[in-house]
Amino acid sequence: MIKAHYFRLYIISFLIFLSHVTFAQEKAFLISDNIAVFYPVNYIAEKHNPSFALIEEPEIIDTLPYSWDIKVEFGEEFEKSMAYIKTRSQTWLYGTGESRGNLVKNGETRIFWNTDNPSYDRDSDGRLYQTHPWVLGVHEDGSAFGVLADNTWKQKLSLGDGIVFISDGPPFRVFVIRAATPQKVIQILAALTGKINLPPLWSLGYQQCRWSYYPDTRVKEIADTFRLKQIPCDVIWMDIHYMDGYRVFTFDPERFPNPSETNDYLHSQGFKSVWMIDPGVKKEEGYTVYDSGTENDVWVKDANGDVYVGPVWPGDCVFPDFTQEKTSEWWADLYKDYMNTGIDGVWNDMNEPSVFGGPDWTMPIENIHRGGAKYLRDIHLRYHNVYGMLMVKASRKGILDANPDKRPFILTRANYIGGQRYAATWTGDNVSSWDHLRMSIPMSINLGLSGQPFNGPDIGGFDKNATPELFGHWIAVGAFYPFSRGHTVTGSINHEPWAFGEEIEDVSRVALQRRYRLLPYLYTLFYEASVNGMPVMRPVFFADITDIKLRREEQAFLLGTNLLVIPKWADHPALPKGIWRTISLVGEDSENDIYQTDLKQRGGSIIPLIDVIQTTEQYSTDSLTLLVCLDENMKAEGTLYSDAGDEFEYLKGQYAVDYFIAEKSGENKIIITCSRKEGHLKEEKRYYRIGIVTDSGIVYSEWKNKKKIEISLQ
Ligand code: NOJ
Repeated sequence: MIKAHYFRLYIISFLIFLSHVTFAQEKAFLISDNIAVFYPVNYIAEKHNPSFALIEEPEIIDTLPYSWDIKVEFGEEFEKSMAYIKTRSQTWLYGTGESRGNLVKNGETRIFWNTDNPSYDRDSDGRLYQTHPWVLGVHEDGSAFGVLADNTWKQKLSLGDGIVFISDGPPFRVFVIRAATPQKVIQILAALTGKINLPPLWSLGYQQCRWSYYPDTRVKEIADTFRLKQIPCDVIWMDIHYMDGYRVFTFDPERFPNPSETNDYLHSQGFKSVWMIDPGVKKEEGYTVYDSGTENDVWVKDANGDVYVGPVWPGDCVFPDFTQEKTSEWWADLYKDYMNTGIDGVWNDMNEPSVFGGPDWTMPIENIHRGGAKYLRDIHLRYHNVYGMLMVKASRKGILDANPDKRPFILTRANYIGGQRYAATWTGDNVSSWDHLRMSIPMSINLGLSGQPFNGPDIGGFDKNATPELFGHWIAVGAFYPFSRGHTVTGSINHEPWAFGEEIEDVSRVALQRRYRLLPYLYTLFYEASVNGMPVMRPVFFADITDIKLRREEQAFLLGTNLLVIPKWADHPALPKGIWRTISLVGEDSENDIYQTDLKQRGGSIIPLIDVIQTTEQYSTDSLTLLVCLDENMKAEGTLYSDAGDEFEYLKGQYAVDYFIAEKSGENKIIITCSRKEGHLKEEKRYYRIGIVTDSGIVYSEWKNKKKIEISLQ
């Protein structure tokens, strides 16, 4: 009640504030047929850094034609700079990155200020760990647009009457994208802000975390239990207790006396390991990271020019100033010895940056970042929202320098739009609650619609204890998040798949077996995301952009274009018209199961599957099942991306895109043809088994190693 009251007051004062402002027309240019950039008249280029969002400064091709209908107006008042975009009355708004609440964002007002926000409960203005000043709009007819404020400063976004950005910084420019479909808008956004790098295959497997598994024997025990119980899993995560007194880049001598040996053990069992690194460095003479950072003069300064000190886990900490080139180089170098212990991936946490007891849970906005050849010297208020992004950029460089032949995997909590170029993300400290399970789906979809396809929440919920029932439902859905990791807070009960009794252990096994069977399809989607920026997890309305009944659907979701995932608890989900047939992947009967999500395959598609494996180390597409779901014309098609899984040879052509087509031949025969479309990967003899998806189940053929397979229907 109190929150709602304050929210109303907030909206009223905001509207009074806006009524004072006169918005003025701008200078506008065309970048391509689909992209325009709008500058406020008083835009001063010298006051801006090279864009953090964009991969490169785009070239202007022309002035804006009169016919361009989505315009930006700018205003300034009370030392705030503003941009206003009028929207049509029937417009559905999405995106805005990581956010609580519904899929559709109309009517929301929120602040972009990366914040350590345990349980998402710190305040009512919707701030979380990341900043994506980006809104995707979809009109009634399915045509779409996107608006990107190229602005890192603290800012407010209001999606009431039109789209309004109000910033604490100098006047900023705004990019507007227009296209025939939202899918096209997302691809143009990706062309501007970059795509994910193709992740290592192992990072698509299930991952097990807790705060924290220790000592090393406990880590091994967790790994062993997965194998013993035959529950597929690829990664075990090391949270902060592995460090020596929370000093980053160190190992506790008693808990982890020999990290290389721990990593070797995990590797021998087909696991990878991910270990945490935070930005706060313990202020302590004699600690090499602190000493070398001090020697290199890398720390953020306070307003008086002294090194800023603020408390995090180890007590008093200093913070690398990543706006300085030399800091990023120094930071990257730290990874050399660290990665040499056999660490596979890195988890950058607390990088809003979080400072305990600091103003707004971070460092003072007056703190100084010194910049350098590339970035301006300025206060923290300018750089706060990109602190995490700059950190993961430097981390990625260090990890790549240490292991030049391996695709890096980094998970970050804080980020900024465009940050998908450097790291995957999870949605921070959610709660073991039904609300947060439900909310995780629109959150994850909207991150995908904001350029970050590689994301997911903590399965089971982070804060508090999950009940068996909640965990069962969460893992049944979580098996289909792009990033699929179970995690929980320190002091909670065990949250592993077997920790809730036999029933939930079985539920978890089946859910994860389904994910692992789908890996060829998932990996192909990640490849697609790395090429054109399309999300892996997509809103249902993408299946039919003309059907406005789908626009608010946020319980069910799509994986790619061919698979619909419907959680068991979904209440009257709005589903797309046309042929969508339920598929069973490991013998489950999802229609009657209490937990397993319903998976429906689109008519007209072919989905490639492998058999169940326990780790992606066993991944091979030498034997492939093709699930063929015919459309009304008795046709279907699909693709499969493959490569070696974790190195860069694919960039030199060592990959393959295979194309499958199913067509009717004669009265009741279907011919399935498999052909290579792209890539130079050596063609191995592959065995195919065809599964024809019907309304009453899947009818399988024998295994055949032919590229043209004839199937008799019935
Ligand atoms: C905060 C992170 O959000 C959480 O996932 C992690 O377990 C703790 N920090 C401890 O490192």
